[in-house]
Parts: sequence; C-alpha cells; structure tokens
Amino acid sequence: MEFMEVIRKRRSIRKFKPEPVPDELIMELLEAARLAPSGTNLQPWRFIIIKSEEKRRELLGHTVNFVVTAPVVIACCVDLNTYKQHKPQRIKELTRAGAFSGVDLNFNDGDKYWKQRGALNANEIREYVSINCAVAVQQLVLRATDLGLGTCWVMMFDQDSVKKILGLGADIDVLALIPVGYADQDPAPRPRLPVRELLIKELK
Ligand SMILES: Cc1cc2nc3c(=O)[nH]c(=O)nc-3n(C[C@H](O)[C@H](O)[C@H](O)COP(=O)(O)O)c2cc1C
Repeated sequence: MEFMEVIRKRRSIRKFKPEPVPDELIMELLEAARLAPSGTNLQPWRFIIIKSEEKRRELLGHTVNFVVTAPVVIACCVDLNTYKQHKPQRIKELTRAGAFSGVDLNFNDGDKYWKQRGALNANEIREYVSINCAVAVQQLVLRATDLGLGTCWVMMFDQDSVKKILGLGADIDVLALIPVGYADQDPAPRPRLPVRELLIKELK
C-alpha cells in the first residue's frame, strides 16, 4: 500500500473477526516496531504476544472489554533499565557515527551534554522511554493497516494488575495494549482538526 494510503486508511478497530492472525504477520508487526528511531538509539520497547484465549480472558476487568475479543493482543512494554544500561554504549556509537560533530557547544557533544544535564530521575526516565516506545508502537500499528489487520491503541488498563497477569517485574512497564485481528467493522474517519488550527505560526 502506498504510504499515505496506509496513514489515511488506519482506524481504531474495536470489533474483530475470530479468524486467527498468522504468526508471520505478527512477526512483520514486530519488525516494523524494531526499526523505529529512538532517543540515543536506546530501543527501550519490548513486546508480549498474547494469543491464548485463557490469558486474554484474564485481562477482562483490567482493561476495556473489546481488547480481549481480538485473536491476538500485543502488550507493548518499556524496559526501564535500557536508559542506564545502554546509554553509555549508544552514545559512543553515535559519537563515532558523527551524530554529535562539532565541539563548541555542549549540545553538539553527546557525552558533555549528558554530563551537564545530569542524570534523569526515575519519572523522567519513565517518560523518556515511554515516548520512544510510542514511536515504535505507531510503526507497528501502521504496518498492521498495511497488512490488512485492524488494531487499536489502548492505554485504558490497570498497570499493576496487567503487569501481574503478564508476570512482569519492576523493570518493565506496559505502555499500551494493542489488540490485533481482522476488522469486523469499517468505521468512518474520526474528525481531525484542520491544519490551520495546528499551525501556531509560520516564521518567515
Ligand atoms: C495513545 C493513545 C491511547 C489510546 N487509548 C485508547 C483506549 O484506551 N481505548 C480506546 O478505545 N481507544 C484508545 N485510543 C484510540 C483513540 O480513541 C482514537 O485513536 C481516536 O479516537 C481517533 O480515532 P482513529 O484512531 O480511528 O482515527 C488511543 C489512541 C492513542 C493514540
């Protein structure tokens, strides 16, 4: 599908056919997510594929009901450790690749910039890795449209109970649940603001 067609065709799907989704397609979705860009190339996204009906049903009461009706649910997670564990190595790689070329400003020197900025606190780390994970999730969602699959971003869930159901520890948070399946509805486009309302100003 042409790129803008994918963007235009995507809808939040909340009704799914029971038809299973082939594993190869699920792997294609993860591949699209894997290739996403991330701050300092941290790649903090992690995924849990939930296929068994039994496990999906455990989510009932902890998220919106329609999630459980999809044949596959992808729990999109963030690894809160990536920031501390991988940042030094990633900064070295990016510096070698010339991403921080020029040394006059600390903004142009990865190492100096981060030293000056100081360590992020736990909340800032969570926010930072979550933003990065969202980029990957949206790539996954668009690839699903491209492959004829329906999805919906779902952030309405109880973090603690979903983590418990998925057997996750303190280092991993769930950012979103993405039900995946063949759409059993064809929703009209939801309203969007016109560009003129998005554009604060044009500086010429
Ligand atoms: C970050 C994010 C979180 C969302 N969370 C939910 C959710 O918890 N439940 C739900 O039904 N839809 C959720 N949505 C879907 C939005 O309601 C939907 O994107 C919006 O109404 C526009 O409709 P469209 O996606 O069909 O264009 C979420 C979307 C995004 C991007």
